[in-house]
Amino acid sequence: MDRMGNLVGMIPAADRVSRFSYAIRNIVGEARAVEATGRAVRYMNIGDPVAFGFQPPPHLIEAATRAMRDGHNGYLSSVGILEGREAVAEDYAARGVTISPDRVLLTTGTSEGIELALTAIVNPGDEVLVPCPTYPLYTAILAKLGAVPLYYHTDPERGWLPEPEHLASLVTPRTRVLVLIDPNNPTGAVYPPDVRRALLAVAARYNLVVLADEVYGDLGYQGSVPLLGTLDQDALIISFSSLSKAYLAPGWRAGWMVVGRSPRLDDVLAAIKKLADGRLCSPGPMQYGIPAALRGDRSHQARFQQALLERATLSHQRLSAIPGMRCVMPQAAFYAMPWVALPPGRTDEHFVLSLLRETGILCVHGSGFGLPPERGAFRIVFLASPAELASVYDDIAAFTARYLAA
Ligand SMILES: Cc1ncc(COP(=O)(O)O)c(C=O)c1O
Repeated sequence: MDRMGNLVGMIPAADRVSRFSYAIRNIVGEARAVEATGRAVRYMNIGDPVAFGFQPPPHLIEAATRAMRDGHNGYLSSVGILEGREAVAEDYAARGVTISPDRVLLTTGTSEGIELALTAIVNPGDEVLVPCPTYPLYTAILAKLGAVPLYYHTDPERGWLPEPEHLASLVTPRTRVLVLIDPNNPTGAVYPPDVRRALLAVAARYNLVVLADEVYGDLGYQGSVPLLGTLDQDALIISFSSLSKAYLAPGWRAGWMVVGRSPRLDDVLAAIKKLADGRLCSPGPMQYGIPAALRGDRSHQARFQQALLERATLSHQRLSAIPGMRCVMPQAAFYAMPWVALPPGRTDEHFVLSLLRETGILCVHGSGFGLPPERGAFRIVFLASPAELASVYDDIAAFTARYLAA
């Protein structure tokens, strides 16, 4: 050991890693420590439908396994198989956005598409508008790139909607990108057309590329949410989605990105393809699941939407009824973001870790999504069965009463 207590010869990790944080998984270490004490943990932290008993439709599994049996086990084109890119282009066309398959890339989940796009667009020191609260992958990637997140407020009193004029007031000459997560994780918000239009107008005014994270687009409780591109096909939009959520196959890491048709995006498209060459291809057999999903039977989605609506309604009712807690009714996906009136000096992380240690329920603190710790927000994944959720909410209610009384 040296004088600082470090092991002599220890190889230091790069500085950028200290800025990189992904709370949804980072907090699992705390849960493991609680499990080591003999207490069972209920993992309400990760948005994985398979962990709660849902499974992808059989024809997707058949398509991916058939691809392996048919010998599609080699490297593929770095943009992805033509059949898959054509299926994405057809799907977008059916939803009102015409796009050439040449502007589609098959990616290792939505996540890789987001990383490719940000890497292709932003220089160190450039700014990117991200929602607050945000899905933390965006800020984690920006940390790696040495770029700067500009958080725009979304208002829980107005259903967690962004305020386009406030967002516009944050823009500087270094701002390059506007991230829209709609439907939203962690809030469950779906932005109405007038808000979406106003956001696109801000992007156009300041020449921003819009990254449209539409991975929950088919999980609106009133049915699929229109693609952002339907409002303006010539807007500078790059859209992302995957099989992870609406096709119940998150572990396949099968996603796509669609670069809008404006020629003003051509250099960015070329840069994305260049970067994609460097990582060879996304997982091959799983790419064959994409045409099967987009051209095949999607009747599971209506059933899943109903199951989610039932759980969202239960979650909203039970969490809103807890004294000191408030919650906005989600409109899509499987997350709720309640907030509790914390005693002075307490943080959301303290609340969440105390909940974990006393009840074994693992949620993620709102500051892991960029909210101020004193807001007392936390995210809960409500994919468990209604009976299990009811028991979780009983325990959260009893815990919150004790916590606020102490
Ligand atoms: C808003 C959002 N974007 C992207 C992702 C990553 O999805 P994928 O599995 O397609 O990489 C998630 C996963 O939870 C998400 O919530």
